[in-house]
Amino acid sequence: SKGEYRHFMLKEIHEQTAVIGATLEGRLGERSALVESFGPEAEALFGQVRQIHIVACGTSYHAGMVARYWLERYAGVPVQVEVASEYRYRRVVVPEGTLFVTLSQSGETADTLAALRFAKAGDYLASLAICNVPGSSLVRESDLSLMTHAGPEIGVASTKAFTTQLTALLLLTLALGRVKGLDEAVQAEVVAALRGLPRLVERVLALDPAIEALSMAFAEKQHALFLGRGAHFPIALEGALKLKEISYIHAEAYPAGELKHGPLALVDSEMPVISVAPNDELLDKLKSNLQEVRARGGELFVFADEGVGLEASEGIRVLRLPRVHEALAPIVYTLPLQLLSYHVAVLKGTDVDQPRNLAKSVTVE
Ligand code: M6R
Repeated sequence: SKGEYRHFMLKEIHEQTAVIGATLEGRLGERSALVESFGPEAEALFGQVRQIHIVACGTSYHAGMVARYWLERYAGVPVQVEVASEYRYRRVVVPEGTLFVTLSQSGETADTLAALRFAKAGDYLASLAICNVPGSSLVRESDLSLMTHAGPEIGVASTKAFTTQLTALLLLTLALGRVKGLDEAVQAEVVAALRGLPRLVERVLALDPAIEALSMAFAEKQHALFLGRGAHFPIALEGALKLKEISYIHAEAYPAGELKHGPLALVDSEMPVISVAPNDELLDKLKSNLQEVRARGGELFVFADEGVGLEASEGIRVLRLPRVHEALAPIVYTLPLQLLSYHVAVLKGTDVDQPRNLAKSVTVE
């Protein structure tokens, strides 16, 4: 039941504090992730991994895109990420030592499942499913699995399934990193940050009234542009997907550096631009991209680290988020985008939990 909440989506957004905690439960040691969470064979197998192919659809695909940044940075393993419906029909070159990873909330998505079956017939080291439904086809047919503990997700727009996938992917990054010799101090630092994640999620969700206030500016708009850089480019993609899925506003996402290669032509006062600006090494670059938007009269909505020198001014609204370890920022910055789409959809009066034309589980191709 929806309990005190008006929609399942809102309930599921608020469950993230607990389900992220549940996904971490029992999988962290003192100063590193527990490799055995991935099964007894994982330790030996991870030692042989030379690259990773991640395959998924929709929101799960966006989680895979974030994981690429993490896995390459912390585990030093090259990663390819692709939507399942493309991967399965391509003549994929599979170098020796390729771990095949699928991501799926339901574990029944037809294209993802077909890609797994295709992979099993090929020369992969092993398959790993990160999934929310125990006993689903994807879990049953994969060599290894790690369950997300999001609990049932009813809203068609995926929220808690996404952030628990990201949590699980960070665990995978740490486990692989450990086997591949990631600096122990870095492992300990990310583990400590992960332990504080549920509390941080709770603090960010408490910003809801301020996010709801921002949503008014979108209800009458036809289009919106989401910008992010690095691991926050996929977060921008996910923000755009949420907005279009439930509010039917046309939304696009770009890596901020691509702005002047085309999409800047779209920017005017009718095109709100949403940007996620955690305090990372790309911040200065992002700031100058935002100036370009402002100079064309674009209205900016920036979700920024509280320590970042970004001030609200005419045409720039800034919502400050608590300081967060760089590795966790994509998880934390997802939350305001979920809430923003939710409130825009409520204002527009659309069917939040059952958007038109969509099904929760896409079991046909
Ligand atoms: O169950 P899966 O994670 O495999 O589903 C994949 C997509 O169908 C799903 O994420 C879809 O994009 C959602 N409606 C997004 O909110």
